[in-house]
Amino acid sequence: MKGIILAGGKGTRLYPMTKAVSKQLLPIYDKPLIYYPLSILLLSSIKDILIISTPEDIPAYKKLLGNGQTIGTSITYKIQDSPCGLADAFILGETFIGDDNVCLILGDNVFYGQDMTSILRKTMDRIKGATIFGYPVKDARAFGVVEFDKDKRVISIEEKPQFPKSNYAIPGLYFYDNRVIEIAKDVKPSARGEIEISSVNNVYLEMNELHVELLGRGMAWLDTGSPEGILKASEYVEAVQSRQGFYISCIEEIAWRRGFITTEQLTIIGENLKMTEYGKYILSLAKEGK
Ligand code: DAU
Repeated sequence: MKGIILAGGKGTRLYPMTKAVSKQLLPIYDKPLIYYPLSILLLSSIKDILIISTPEDIPAYKKLLGNGQTIGTSITYKIQDSPCGLADAFILGETFIGDDNVCLILGDNVFYGQDMTSILRKTMDRIKGATIFGYPVKDARAFGVVEFDKDKRVISIEEKPQFPKSNYAIPGLYFYDNRVIEIAKDVKPSARGEIEISSVNNVYLEMNELHVELLGRGMAWLDTGSPEGILKASEYVEAVQSRQGFYISCIEEIAWRRGFITTEQLTIIGENLKMTEYGKYILSLAKEGK
């Protein structure tokens, strides 16, 4: 399974914050936003990762994450010249995906919750079709929305409906089999001129091969689409980390726990960052052992 992080876009809804900096590099408390989706790929044991972003922003991502070797992964990069839609990820990523299945995660999506690992494992075991998720929100109008019949079977997927048929929004985490490349190539632009991920999901739905996993109330899917959302997400991360002592989305910790890097490698990373609480946390893990 390959992993793609879509981290482009103009971030205009967050101007002036994102005029000179890519949205997915803004801090959520103590780490760049992209660490959160990256950690989901690592938790899924996906080590082969493509980051897609704008020509201006790719250098900054390379500076931050390099070739991924320090966390035991391979990270490569691809330019998206203009933000023409989420489904473009599979067209741009065609060579990278090769014959594999692929997981797409949006660079601005933050997930956290105890069930995450088991949900991801279950999803990874499914080889054929597509798996997306449903998450209850108060107002689903800004999202892809999934509609169910009374037996919880999916009947429709709609992108940003004015009148949502359910309160289940579709978060920016998607798993597909290899057919997604050809499906994405066939998608026609929507009224807003984008090749929508919801159109891709609708093709799988028509083929009767769309699985929707519902995420429960124990799971956090945080909004980073507004200044308030960013502040609240930061407060959430700070509250959990300072109360529990466990870090959310420390990519080096996950890489180490997944066996991608050794304790010696973790120690070196911690040493280089030991002037920060983040570095001290990494060093404490290395000292205590798994
Ligand atoms: O966050 C979940 C939602 O993401 C889903 O519920 C929707 O179905 C899906 O369409 C998407 O909606 P958004 O309106 O939030 O997508 P947005 O255009 O804000 O893009 C999401 C991220 O992907 C953002 O970090 C920018 C990046 N992006 C977006 C587009 C369209 C790209 O890198 N390239 C693109 O072409």
